[in-house]
Amino acid sequence: MSDLDWVPPERLLEQARGAALSAHAPYSRFRVGAAVVAGGQVYLGCNVENASFGLSMCAERVAAFKAVSEGHRALSQIAVSCIDADASLGPAGRMPCGACRQVLTELAAPDTPVWVDGVGKFSLVALLPEAFRLRGC
Ligand code: THU
Repeated sequence: MSDLDWVPPERLLEQARGAALSAHAPYSRFRVGAAVVAGGQVYLGCNVENASFGLSMCAERVAAFKAVSEGHRALSQIAVSCIDADASLGPAGRMPCGACRQVLTELAAPDTPVWVDGVGKFSLVALLPEAFRLRGC
């Protein structure tokens, strides 16, 4: 990691693709990587599955929680890559899930860019309008 104000989107997507290689996804065989920028650093995440399926964790939340656990609660850029998504899945097979959208929304400004590999750029608020919030957090 290094000090960064802005990471070029293609560079951040490359890092997300690389993070996906660390995925533990023996059940779905669907590897996902995420890269988020916070506090001038890049935090990477991959999906981590478990034999007790409900305990599995998405790549985006791993990356976001790593940033928070290192003291950074304001994500400024987000990139996600589903490296095993084949063309037949279309854009829907590459988008962040609803749970991750909710978590990311609490940790980033509404206009934070989210780059979805093979799909395009979205603002966070476009991905989750009218998000649930408690006490304005
Ligand atoms: N997955 C993610 O890591 N992020 C998402 O936003 C959607 C789904 C993971 C969870 C599971 O390990 C695999 O992809 C298949 O659902």
